[in-house]
Amino acid sequence: MKAWRNRRIVITAGPTREKLDPVRYLSNESSGRMGWALAEAAQQKGARVTLVAGPTALPSPKNVTVFLVRSAREMLAATRKAARGAHAVIGAAAVADWRPIAVSRTKLKKSQAPPILKLTPNPDILKTLARERKGPFPRLAGFALESTNLLANAGKKMKEKKLDLVVANGPNALGKETTRAWILRPGLAVEEFNGNKKILARQILSRLLESVKSHER
Ligand code: CTP
Repeated sequence: MKAWRNRRIVITAGPTREKLDPVRYLSNESSGRMGWALAEAAQQKGARVTLVAGPTALPSPKNVTVFLVRSAREMLAATRKAARGAHAVIGAAAVADWRPIAVSRTKLKKSQAPPILKLTPNPDILKTLARERKGPFPRLAGFALESTNLLANAGKKMKEKKLDLVVANGPNALGKETTRAWILRPGLAVEEFNGNKKILARQILSRLLESVKSHER
């Protein structure tokens, strides 16, 4: 029954916030629901779960260790730490791709000329973990939100980020309880899913566990 018993998993969730000045930031619409569903499902399957979460309105799931972070760089630091010795990491967070190059220490004033935002790329959390991985663990899973050429782009992302599993979905999944999604794994047939995100979470975990088990001795 408890398929993930004696195993540890780290899940990133929610948006990140990238500071502009003491009261303003750049962020996105992520609710954190998919990451929460994964954390709850993994906990129910017997895993020890760490959830690294950006700002959301959701209450902490029961029996899950939660690290609250704000920026992409904070999320990277917390995830790296939590991932040590973990069997798997799932990147369900909507990490901001860029941050303002400079953060003003004082509130930007309306009386000043309108600011021109200069942005700089944030680190890619999953890519960093893949690069730093020594040996087969943690197994790495991510999401690919694509508005065009869904499967081709998701496959490309899987290769580029050296992921062991990718969940591809379209933009209309955002904020909904149900979704149409495709699970990709290197060398295996694509699986299509259509239904509730909680059931999708269970399916992702069972496929990821296959990947964990195939590397255990
Ligand atoms: N991701 C990450 N760190 C980032 C950006 C994304 O770990 N800085 C992870 C997400 O959690 C997700 C996966 O990478 O699991 C794909 O995110 P997505 O936004 O679809 O893709 P990007 O890599 O940002 O590429 P693009 O925006 O060009 O589609």
